[in-house]
Amino acid sequence: MRKTSVVVAALMVPSVVMAWPWSTDMMNQPSIKPQEGVMTPFPSRSVPVTGVPTQAANREETRDMINPVAASAASIQQGRNLYQIYCSVCHGRVGKADSPISSKVGAIDLTDAYVQNDLSEGWLWGTITFGSYVMPSYGVVTEQGGSNDLSVEERWHVVNYIRHALVDDAAAAAVAAK
Ligand code: HEC
Repeated sequence: MRKTSVVVAALMVPSVVMAWPWSTDMMNQPSIKPQEGVMTPFPSRSVPVTGVPTQAANREETRDMINPVAASAASIQQGRNLYQIYCSVCHGRVGKADSPISSKVGAIDLTDAYVQNDLSEGWLWGTITFGSYVMPSYGVVTEQGGSNDLSVEERWHVVNYIRHALVDDAAAAAVAAK
């Protein structure tokens, strides 16, 4: 009897030993695992050739950003949906600043040459991301409020809609209203 328990105890030793912290040794290598450590910064002046750039600290820095999302029919349609949800309340259903509150908040006509030609696509994206003077932000939460309701890519879809279909939508709406 006594002999058996000694044997059993002896057999258990390896499994007890294996369960010691050493059993995780293989996992805890010096390699850097996902989400660990400080991300290596990109070399200065590097330009993303794929993916969607997200690095901009304020609206000023977005002015020269290149729109990485092609203005495909799908992108424009997604932008249209998002525009109607997030922007039409102030800028009007087709951008003409004719919603019931447009004049109260001072929202501008987005079909004007100023928005269509003068502002860069980067600036439009930056305005949606960081907000403007009265306009709230949709890409960052700041002390003034705002939200990050729209993803990086969704904001470019809205830019594509504004630049490639809003004027046509406004013209179609004007014809339909006659
Ligand atoms: C709460 C009302 C409100 C909403 C919602 C809103 N805006 Fe605005 N927006 C304004 C007002 C007011 C201005 C003009 C004053 C200012 O620049 O803040 C403006 C200005 C702008 C400008 C011109 C920026 C400039 O540099 O002159 C653009 C472009 C714009 N809005 C796009 C959008 C888009 C796109 C959305 C939806 C994602 C949106 N806005 C949602 C109120 C709003």
